[in-house]
Amino acid sequence: MALLRACKRAYAEVIQLEKFVINGGKPLIGEVSISGAKNAAVAILPATILAADKCVIENLPDISDVAVSLQILSALGAKIRMLNKNSYEIDTSHITATQVPDELSRQMRASYYFLGALLGRFGSGKVAMPGGCNLGPRPIDQHLKAFCALGAQDSVEYGMIEVSGRPLVGAHVFFDTVSVGATMNAMLSAVLAEGQTVLENVAKEPHIVDLANFLNMMGADVRGAGTDAIKIRGRKALHGCTYSIIPDQIEAGSYMVAAAITGGNVLIKNVIPKHLEPITAKMELAGVIIEEYDDAVRVVRTGDLLPLKIKTMPHPGFPTDMQPLMTVLLTLARGTSIITEGIWENRFRYVDELVRMGANIQVDGQVAVIEGVPELQPAPLRASDLRAGAALVMAALAANGTSEIDEINHIERGYEGLVEKLQGLGADIRRVEKFVSVLPQAL
Ligand code: EPZ
Repeated sequence: MALLRACKRAYAEVIQLEKFVINGGKPLIGEVSISGAKNAAVAILPATILAADKCVIENLPDISDVAVSLQILSALGAKIRMLNKNSYEIDTSHITATQVPDELSRQMRASYYFLGALLGRFGSGKVAMPGGCNLGPRPIDQHLKAFCALGAQDSVEYGMIEVSGRPLVGAHVFFDTVSVGATMNAMLSAVLAEGQTVLENVAKEPHIVDLANFLNMMGADVRGAGTDAIKIRGRKALHGCTYSIIPDQIEAGSYMVAAAITGGNVLIKNVIPKHLEPITAKMELAGVIIEEYDDAVRVVRTGDLLPLKIKTMPHPGFPTDMQPLMTVLLTLARGTSIITEGIWENRFRYVDELVRMGANIQVDGQVAVIEGVPELQPAPLRASDLRAGAALVMAALAANGTSEIDEINHIERGYEGLVEKLQGLGADIRRVEKFVSVLPQAL
């Protein structure tokens, strides 16, 4: 036994993880600037492949999903030059590879956008079946429906999905469900197809419009983005351009919640207030004061929070990515709130963590009933996905005392400089290293 214990000690690996330590209970006060939109960036970066030229992309958020997208471009043969931490020059003229390396595509669900872009330019693309946040089943049948309508074929083998077909020919696609990813992927594959493509029952999120604007800057002919139907006239070739990504609607919404839940007063700068309307409307009903400026919103809370009924829907409905953040806010409302998740099957997994903080929430399928409590208690917490993790940060900021949040890699996939931005608002939050000893399976 002693020998076995000695062996275990000798072979134990020490791995380094990071966590957030948050000493909550202080109102956030000051100004914060919002970064570029993650969900636009992860589509626009693959879209540069379609130009076979140099593009300069500005206002890219400095987050790990963008880093992975850049690594994929580089692995495919693109030349990448960093201009500053938020701007990159990407030259895709020498790309020849059409297969995204397995280990990179598994790190990020949005790697599926490389399928559409590679198919559009080369007539073939291959990626691992995508990873990303675990929110329930995440099929890509609607992406494949669009590719196949344009004349491609798909096959799945050993965890990899391949689409190929040349020439692609424009087609009429009516999506069975409103999907952000399928809408974007269909656009990527159709801009270089022969003839006209009409996409109906499409998603209308701000990042759909941003991708269309970028494609049009590269010489594509995409019309109707932001409405239910998008018309694309295929071009023979596209060219490089310089493009600045829109501000992140969900990052902005997250700071709106941070200000409101702590009873603070925060000016949130570099936003498009129109994109925030579905969030602003609900927060005002909850008793939060919101002042809109041209490219900023001020969020102030002085009185009690009021309960709400919310159902998440495709844009312009209330965004599912704000659902965990809004749930946290409503844990402190005076009365009973009901949140219905209308997009994902399994997006309430974080609720157990909030209950451990003293929240009173009952979940039945896709409905959460929240009885407001006077305060949240600090606790050790674990981030289960990106937005759930951000929501726990907000809960910890509101709780009097010290909370620790593990598995923050999920959060850092989507929030640039979260710690620094919150510290700038007066929050007591630190990122600290945590060392964990792991025994090899064999012992
Ligand atoms: C995008 O995911 C976002 N991710 C998600 O944000 C966001 O929650 C989601 O849109 C909805 O707004 C990125 O943009 C990278 P969908 P996506 O296709 O494109 C069903 C975050 O926190 N569906 O619009 O994968 C699907 O199951 C992330 O930033 C099909 O049935 O979402 C879901 O119920 C998490 N077949 C619904 O449609 C398909 O082929 C909406 O999914 C595709 C989707």
